[in-house]
Amino acid sequence: MQDVLHDVLYLVASILFILGIKSMTHPRTAVRGNMLGASGMLVATIVVYMAVMNRGESLASVNIGLIVGAVAGLVLAVKIEMTAMPQLVAFFNGMGGLASLLVAGVNLGFVEGTPDHAEMIATAVSGLIGSVTFLGSMIAMGKLWELGFSKWELPLPVSFRHLLNAVLILICLFCGYRLTGDAGVEWYLGISITGCLLGFTLTSPIGGADMPVVIALLNSYSGLAASATGFVIGNNVLIVSGSLVGASGIILTSIMCKAMNRSLLNVLFGAVTKGEIADADEVYATVKSTSAEEVAMMLETAQRVVVVPGYGMAVAQAQRAVRDLATILEANDTEVEYAIHPVAGRMPGHMNVLLAEADVPYEQLKELSTINPTFDEVDISIVLGANDVVNPTAREEGSPIYGMPILDVDKSRVVIVIKRSLSPGYAGIPNPLFAQDNTLMLFGDGKDCITSITTAINT
Ligand code: TAP
Repeated sequence: MQDVLHDVLYLVASILFILGIKSMTHPRTAVRGNMLGASGMLVATIVVYMAVMNRGESLASVNIGLIVGAVAGLVLAVKIEMTAMPQLVAFFNGMGGLASLLVAGVNLGFVEGTPDHAEMIATAVSGLIGSVTFLGSMIAMGKLWELGFSKWELPLPVSFRHLLNAVLILICLFCGYRLTGDAGVEWYLGISITGCLLGFTLTSPIGGADMPVVIALLNSYSGLAASATGFVIGNNVLIVSGSLVGASGIILTSIMCKAMNRSLLNVLFGAVTKGEIADADEVYATVKSTSAEEVAMMLETAQRVVVVPGYGMAVAQAQRAVRDLATILEANDTEVEYAIHPVAGRMPGHMNVLLAEADVPYEQLKELSTINPTFDEVDISIVLGANDVVNPTAREEGSPIYGMPILDVDKSRVVIVIKRSLSPGYAGIPNPLFAQDNTLMLFGDGKDCITSITTAINT
């Protein structure tokens, strides 16, 4: 009877997770989605309490885990900057992988007699995916935080790297095969250590603009590892929630690949396209700067203005200032729209979330494919803290970001670029847009610049 109750409650938790993910597909319902997901987790936690109490076991270890996890979660949620969210997601993915690795490993200690083959296969899968996810996510987190250790990579030519990866995979398969035979902890350790090495060799060469794809993929891996662990310990909610994370992560990975115009195989196994990086001094020889007052004068006569937000808008927290400027322009009969690049910022949907938070009407947010054909009818494009997503070198073969779709702002009549300096964006390459004939640079913090333009229009 108790087992039936637990299964019913696990089903409720799974339904809450599914409804939560569904609500996250739109910025307006995303907060509700978060609450639904958290409620699902609460129900699952209550079932754990009930199960432990029914078995008459001590709740001490559950309580310690819960307190440590809740305090860590609370501190991170309150302290973490919005711009550091992708690093946090990478960290969570890594911890998910590590948890699966450890739980499946501990379960080996309870195996008696002839091991069940299906359970041992699930254990090997948990160990392999969990360890790849753990170290891969730590490297990804380090890269996003620009930590020194994450820049280290094996000085091997691409073909040797592929060979090394193939050897590591073969070692994991061999250890997995032996594990199914005798449930030996040494084979599990072999999978875990080799899997960590694989996580390192696969993730360390990936960089530049490809990180969004990697993070989405690692997110999917963490779900698959959890799902396999669910099979190991016979926990239905872990199987369902892990599969949900695995499937949604794969869908996100495919969306990101499409956005970057790359195939997944190319991101994972392609040589890192270092490409030719032009000399910044040469690229920026003809840069012209402007002032907030001059931009205000131009905006007063513009009929169609497009704002292109990027990572710098998130850093400057300029979204509300932009909305205020847009309100004034609209009162002057100027049409204002926002061009949203799928990988602008540092996480999927980053710009949509920020602009929704500032109550920018959702209809004004235009996707890349919708707005690109119309840029030649735009009077002024305001590029606010965006860089890579408007870099025209993406159209040139040999460029490190060659093939990545960009917002064609360079086709607008006038381009105003707001950023603090001529320093590069995430991909680390100069942007010839800044030196184009129709471009004027307004140097400064995004929020300060936009506020100064609004003040200049109002006076
Ligand atoms: P970036 O190319 O990273 O450029 C951001 C620009 O913002 C920088 O050049 C910086 O220049 C400027 N900036 C920083 N702080 C600012 C402030 N306070 N005020 C004004 N400007 C400021 O940004 P993007 O165009 O949004 O492109 C995103 C990049 O991140 C892509 O390469 C993408 O692949 C990568 N990425 C994306 C994701 C996802 S999922 N979205 C995840 C990981 C990586 P200054 O320092 O001169 O101000």
